[in-house]
Parts: sequence; C-alpha cells; structure tokens
Amino acid sequence: NKGKYEHYMQKEIHEQPESLTTTMRGRLKRGGSTKAKTVLLGGLKDHIKSIRRSRRIVFIGCGTSYNAALAARPIIEELSGVPVTMEIASDLVDRQGPIYREDTAVFVSQSGETADTLLALEYALENGALCVGITNTVGSAIARNTHCGIHINAGCEIGVASTKAYTSQIVVMAMLALAIGDDAISSQARREAIIDGLFDLPNKVREVLKLDQEMKELAKLLIAEQSLLVFGRGYNFATALEGALKVKEVSLMHSEGMLAGEMKHGPLALVDENLPIIVIATRDACFSKQQSVIQQLHARKGRLIVVCSKGDAAAVCPGGSSSCRVIEVPQVEDCLQPVVNIIPLQVCI
Ligand code: BG6
Repeated sequence: NKGKYEHYMQKEIHEQPESLTTTMRGRLKRGGSTKAKTVLLGGLKDHIKSIRRSRRIVFIGCGTSYNAALAARPIIEELSGVPVTMEIASDLVDRQGPIYREDTAVFVSQSGETADTLLALEYALENGALCVGITNTVGSAIARNTHCGIHINAGCEIGVASTKAYTSQIVVMAMLALAIGDDAISSQARREAIIDGLFDLPNKVREVLKLDQEMKELAKLLIAEQSLLVFGRGYNFATALEGALKVKEVSLMHSEGMLAGEMKHGPLALVDENLPIIVIATRDACFSKQQSVIQQLHARKGRLIVVCSKGDAAAVCPGGSSSCRVIEVPQVEDCLQPVVNIIPLQVCI
C-alpha cells in the first residue's frame, strides 16, 4: 500500500528513518554493566576471524549495490586494515579477474538474484574464496549460495530504483567494519563514536527528509537541462555516482558522477555557465580539497549546487547565494555521511 505517496519509490525514500532502525535492530549494543559498545552480526559470528585474517576483501555488486559498497570501502579499510578492492560483477566475470582462496568476496545485492552478481558468486566459489552475502531478500539465491552473510532487513523494496536498500546496505557495511575491527584497542574510541552516530542516524535522516519541498523546487529548475554533473570524493565519491545513477534511471536525464580529484584531468573542460554541477562538500578530511574544487569551478563560471554541512554556506560559497545554490544537511560521523547526503538527491529526482 502506497498510503499518501504517489509511487512506491517516494514511499520508500520517506520510510528510511524506519528502515534504518530495522537494519540496526538487535545488532548494536550500548551500555549494560560493562558500558561497552559493541556490534553483533549473528550471520557472521563464526566467520569474522577468517574475514579478519583474509589477504583482501573484494566487494562485488552492480548498480546501486556497488555504489553502497564503494561508500563503505574507506571505513572497512580503516577499521580492518585489510586491503579492499571493488569489482563490478559483470566486469569481474568478463575479465576472469584474480580471486584467491585467501580472499573474502562480499556480494552486495538488494534482490539477491541479480544474474551478473550470481555469475560472479559462482566464479568466486570455484576459486575458493570465502563468500559473504549482503542482501535484502531472505532465501534469495545469493543468501543461499554464500558461506555466510548479513540481511539488511530494510523491508521489501518495490521501486526498481533502489533507495532505502542503498542506505541500509551502507549501514550494514559500517557495522561489518566495526565487527571486523572489534579486536583493536587503538580504534576503540573511533568505533564507539561510529556506534553513537549509528544510533542517532535515523533522526538525522528524518531531519534531512524535511528538505523535500526545497529539493522539488530545485528539480523544477533542472528538469529542462540536458545534463548534470555530480562531483564527490572520499566517502562521498559513492554519493556522486549514486546521485547521478538515480538521475539517469528515474529522471531520464544524462548525468555523470565524478571523482572530484579527477576534475582537473579532463572534466574541467566541460564547465561553463550553462551546465549544472552538484558538488558534495560536507565536512570531513577532504573538505578543504572540495573548497578548492569549488573555487576552480567558480573561476570557470560553473553553475553550482553545493551540498554542505549545516552552517557552512559561507565557507563553500564565497560569492554568496547569487553565485551558487546551497543545500545544507546535518553533519554526522564521516563514514555515515553518505547515508545523509544521498537523501536530497533521492528526493529531487
Ligand atoms: C539493476 C537496477 O538492474 O540492478 C539497479 O536497475 C540495481 O537499480 C541493480 O541497483 C542491482 O540490483 P541488486 O538487486 O543486485 O542490488
């Protein structure tokens, strides 16, 4: 039942505070007699040591699921110390790329049935890797054929363009990072800050969903355009790819997500006063680099729309509101920021 919403995708976008809560339910512990903050992923508990010891973690998926894994990659690398590589399922199979017995291959798929991802799973099983599934569908082929896994529990997703599954996948992979890194004393404070951030995340998502009207107005301005670029980096390179994918899939407008660090190596040539460009510039370790990207785009008279942390409008838009449009979002723990940042882009499509 769509309730008050026009279509299922809109309903699923607005349901994210609840779907994220369900994803985390029973898995995060805070307080108790030891006051310890911990993560418990039942489906992985017998395999977590093997994952920790693996030579490499390979994320494999398609479309939005691939983008979710890309968003989680930095925190998995940081907390596990294990190198993480990314594979688009079809490309891994086309290349017959190297997969080893010492690898942990993580298959990310909302449906758990995507043909390319299943072929890649078959291939990784043949090559002897430990195969982990992250799906939203209990009993799906990926859930059945992997050695172990985590259900994202986001609830049934009817919209073909994935929205709530994307944010729940990121949260599950952040919890995976916490579980793998659980034995390291040196990162305990960081892990606890992330757990606190996870508890508060549904509220922050609720807050950013209030931008609905503002984003619809922005969408009206963009609807007649031919093309849209989205620049992000670090945790939010994935936000750029996923935002652009949603615009293509749903608004049927040409859109490209780009790594901001690559801007000067080609894409800058496209910038003029007509082409709209979204820049993701929320606060994290890459913030000053994004400020300098914005300055370079300004110098080319780029038509900018900047997604920034609350209170940062002046810091990202030195020329004031006449020179660019600013969308302010609540700041959260850096590795969870992609969950918040994708919401304005989802509601504007
Ligand atoms: C594509 C859909 O066919 O499959 C994308 O258009 C989706 O929206 C992709 O992200 C992967 O699907 P799944 O179920 O494996 O996450």
